[in-house]
Amino acid sequence: MQLGQFVSQDWDIGPDEVLIRRIDIAQMTTDSQVAPPPSMGAALTADEHVTWQSLTAGSSRQQEWLLGRLALKEVVRAWAQERGHQLASNDVEIHIDEEGAPYARCALLSGVGGPPVISLSHNSGVVVAAAAEPGSLIGIDIEYADRRTQVLARALTPMETNFVTAESASVLDLLVAKEAATKALGVGLRGAVARWPVASVTALAEGLLIEVSSASDSGLVLPVLVLHPLDTVLGICYVAPDIDAA
Ligand SMILES: CC(C)(COP(=O)(O)OP(=O)(O)OC[C@H]1O[C@@H](n2cnc3c(N)ncnc32)[C@H](O)[C@@H]1OP(=O)(O)O)[C@@H](O)C(=O)NCCC(=O)NCCS
Repeated sequence: MQLGQFVSQDWDIGPDEVLIRRIDIAQMTTDSQVAPPPSMGAALTADEHVTWQSLTAGSSRQQEWLLGRLALKEVVRAWAQERGHQLASNDVEIHIDEEGAPYARCALLSGVGGPPVISLSHNSGVVVAAAAEPGSLIGIDIEYADRRTQVLARALTPMETNFVTAESASVLDLLVAKEAATKALGVGLRGAVARWPVASVTALAEGLLIEVSSASDSGLVLPVLVLHPLDTVLGICYVAPDIDAA
């Protein structure tokens, strides 16, 4: 893969502070079922190649993992490009921590305070990756709008059920907000829908602002912008760096 080439596309959506890129899987012309095509393979570091090979060959998970790595690397590259740094994809290492949260390493970005914080979401048709300045919190989640939610609806709190009954938000809006908020904290929802109550829903011109209460820190409320682009529901949780704590 040559410097400057991207598989993903810039997605101009959400807060100005957050960079988002997307890969539309249907538009991919390459077949990554057997091996990552040369252009994608060159994007991976040696360690990432090992991980790719450890996944079941030809599985949807293997493809999902590969596209996720590409999207994450490219959102870091785009973030760096905005700061005057031209990076190749294999300059950026994507790791996951013990909770499964992705983070980037890139020695070439030490001069700009290190790589951005990142987040990833995929469904069967699209992969989205987000990046924001180091020290901030970022969590992203995307779902198809027609996802079934009957089971989830039973896990809502009475207040959340009221939001749905009043048509302030759909069950899926609330779920996406919880997924994005928990990813921003690096813990992930892991099915614990009721542990992360929605505190408020506010209608905005572009979508909804949904505030999710933290299960681990009773004073913490995470703001999630929930948007409805085309046939999807997209949640973006962004919290600026805490300047006082720096
Ligand atoms: C994994 C989870 C964070 C999001 O899952 P999801 O909404 O179904 O899937 P998405 O595509 O939106 O997000 C998956 C990505 O979230 C990221 N992620 C995983 N754990 C994370 C965490 N603790 N914090 C932040 N991001 C996380 C990863 O990048 C993952 O993609 P990858 O595995 O290819 O690297 C989790 O909340 C979940 O719901 N998992 C479903 C299955 C489950 O309950 N598993 C329990 C395992 S103990």
